[in-house]
Amino acid sequence: MIAEFRKLYGSAEGLRVFRAPGRVNLIGEHTDYNLGFVLPVALDLATYIATAPSGVPSGPGKLRMYSEFRQEMCEWNAADIGALTPQRHWTDYPLGVAQELLRAGFPIAPANLLIRSTVPEGSGLSSSAALEVSTALALLAGRPLDPLSLARLCQRAEHNFAGIPCGIMDQYISVFGRQHSAVEIDCRSLGHRFVELPAGVTFVAVNTMVKHALAGSAYKERVAECAAAVAGIQRTFPQVESLRDVSPEQFESVASSLPPVVARRARHVVTEDARVGRFVEASARGDLALMGTLLVESHRSLQHDYEVSCAELDFLVDTALAIDGVFGSRMTGGGFGGCTVTMLRPDAAARFGEEMARAYQRQFQTTPQTYACRPSAGAGEVKDGEEF
Ligand code: GLA
Repeated sequence: MIAEFRKLYGSAEGLRVFRAPGRVNLIGEHTDYNLGFVLPVALDLATYIATAPSGVPSGPGKLRMYSEFRQEMCEWNAADIGALTPQRHWTDYPLGVAQELLRAGFPIAPANLLIRSTVPEGSGLSSSAALEVSTALALLAGRPLDPLSLARLCQRAEHNFAGIPCGIMDQYISVFGRQHSAVEIDCRSLGHRFVELPAGVTFVAVNTMVKHALAGSAYKERVAECAAAVAGIQRTFPQVESLRDVSPEQFESVASSLPPVVARRARHVVTEDARVGRFVEASARGDLALMGTLLVESHRSLQHDYEVSCAELDFLVDTALAIDGVFGSRMTGGGFGGCTVTMLRPDAAARFGEEMARAYQRQFQTTPQTYACRPSAGAGEVKDGEEF
């Protein structure tokens, strides 16, 4: 990156490199904005940003960003950042972050950025959070901001600039990820605990290579449906503030009083929250079979009750479940494309990859990419020789 940076900007003086990982969520889908539980893992796929101050030879100082993936250079007067509006362009993510930093009292100094990412875009592995968090660190350039404020600032950027009312999971795990561990996040208290996964299993993500256009609007619709469910449930249980507060038994006692679609959405969230706890317990006991069963239950719930799956994801899950050595499989992330995550025996991984590719190719004439999910460290500055 140093050589590339020098080529682009003439000098690499004062260069620093920051990294923020993508994630795969093992279980707890669409529970974060309902203030429930999630269990993601930070990946070794990450966004890297090399940055150096740009100096002000004459005229206004510029903020410049070069995306290697897009092969596109963009620049703004650093002094104008606060007044920019979203353009439905990839730069909405970094600019949204820059604006939130300004609001939080961090002036944006003229700087040059080079952005490189190994998180496949549109794959549901959270390339946008990786870009947001790495941008925040690059623009902060060493100015201190505590990790939780960093994650929340990036979530606000996504709400206010990218226009997606997302939960906290993706930004949180990008900041708090840890090598060799999954992270159970309580999306209400915003605390977490590290969950060591049992020996004898590995997780592989398989990419459908599609992202259906529906994804953004359906996400907003689900957020609204969950709010409607809370309002309905409050008629019987006034103390309920979010679906996090509703036990599966409480839910069943009021389900018939809710509009059918709203009831199905809420049933997913309430049962999914319970599955996260059961998965963590099963993991601690090394009960691999139960972990696998819970993954499949999660998928069926997302498929039939929450209705955020699609033919490609269902096909990958069903194909995976027929392969020797697989414990369970489900869609991961927001849905409508992106990836599945499959739990399997490590010695079955090579054959699994081949069989999945063959079957998917035959069905959809597309080769799915697969990624080994190696739990990695959260975001930070990259120092020479460091491993994540
Ligand atoms: C997207 C959002 C997250 C979360 C997931 C679904 O990745 O960014 O906040 O809601 O969908 O679990």
